Amino acid sequence: MWEEEFSELAKRLKASEIRELLKVTQMPDIISLAGGLPNPKSFPVEIIKEITTKLLDSYGEKMLQYGSTEGVNSFRETLANYYNENYSFGIGKDNVLITAGSQEGLYLLGKIFLNPGDTVVVEAPTYVGAITAFQSFYPNYVQVEMDDEGMNIDILEKKLKELVREGKKPKFIYTIPTFQNPAGVTMSLERRKRLLELAKEYNILVVEDSPYEELRFSGEKVPQLKALDKEGYVLYIGTLSKVLSPGMRIAFMIGNEEIIQKAVLAKQGIDLCTSPFVQYIAEEYIKGGYMREHIPKIIKLYKEKRDIMLDAIEDYFPDGVKWTRPDGGMFLWVTLPEHMDAGELLQKAIENKVVYVIGAAFYPHRDHRNTMRLNFTYPTNEQIEEGIKRLAKVIKEAL
Ligand SMILES: Cc1ncc(COP(=O)(O)O)c(C=O)c1O
Repeated sequence: MWEEEFSELAKRLKASEIRELLKVTQMPDIISLAGGLPNPKSFPVEIIKEITTKLLDSYGEKMLQYGSTEGVNSFRETLANYYNENYSFGIGKDNVLITAGSQEGLYLLGKIFLNPGDTVVVEAPTYVGAITAFQSFYPNYVQVEMDDEGMNIDILEKKLKELVREGKKPKFIYTIPTFQNPAGVTMSLERRKRLLELAKEYNILVVEDSPYEELRFSGEKVPQLKALDKEGYVLYIGTLSKVLSPGMRIAFMIGNEEIIQKAVLAKQGIDLCTSPFVQYIAEEYIKGGYMREHIPKIIKLYKEKRDIMLDAIEDYFPDGVKWTRPDGGMFLWVTLPEHMDAGELLQKAIENKVVYVIGAAFYPHRDHRNTMRLNFTYPTNEQIEEGIKRLAKVIKEAL
């Protein structure tokens, strides 16, 4: 009835594959390796109960009032200290903006940087929520392929050169360098350094989205791009969704003050401020040492699940199928033989009561048909084993 009245943008909006898939995952007996949810067992319910009661007694009035758009100052300071002490960011509270999830941060970036037709460089594959956030501003995407060491910087350099020749300058390079969603890979230190050199040479902002940073199960820590960045080319986006609760919607952008201030103006028109109630709880979760104590429990839970999934894949998947071995995060990425189509296979998978997300959803250009993303954090250990068995059967039959 209102179709005619909708804006051009609204007419272009459509539900993502992942949302559509959620309907299937509600069916009985289906094992979903498709979701992107943290495991509810990872939520520190008792800690939140304790902190909330304590804080309401002392700060109840402030917690329930409107707050400033930038965020609660003491929480911004707590975050600045956390990143300085643990990761040598060298920042102050004015470099921090609190957002309602990092998803809001991504939308704000689109709002302050993108005009229709502007170029954004992304990894291929990339986070589907970032495509959704940027899509409102009609950018053109340049995709840069990845391998086990993250974004291929040689390809990036080649594409940047091509863009210069065409007289185009990307507004930013969007990367998830650590335990990437969806691919599960981590960018090597050498590539991180080269990425920053290129950012400087071409004078391009790098957006480092790092929701999984704290969830490392194995391998050596690699410094964040932001920690390596001495000249202000990196805007870091972090979140407490995977180490506290996604339902609390609490995240932050860390970057140079000029960008933070512009994002504050953009945020005013969206939600005035992120919930102060939640910010005070999040602050105490970090400052009171609760987070440091709790994260190892999440890591233990997820590491076991990752290992079960990798072992099951090793045991059941047929030759010709490749997969990534994530050192952290929530996902791994499967590449089927070139001639196979993960989209066509999905119907067969549903018949066999297992679902995944087709890889094409993670490419703005929607190419690459032979890939899929698997989540190991949400299903039970038994479901992971059984889900992989079912998926292996479907793949073998299609081969
Ligand atoms: C790469 C990436 N960025 C951002 C988000 C959104 O997180 P938030 O809950 O902070 O909005 C996610 C969530 O899965 C993600 O994987």
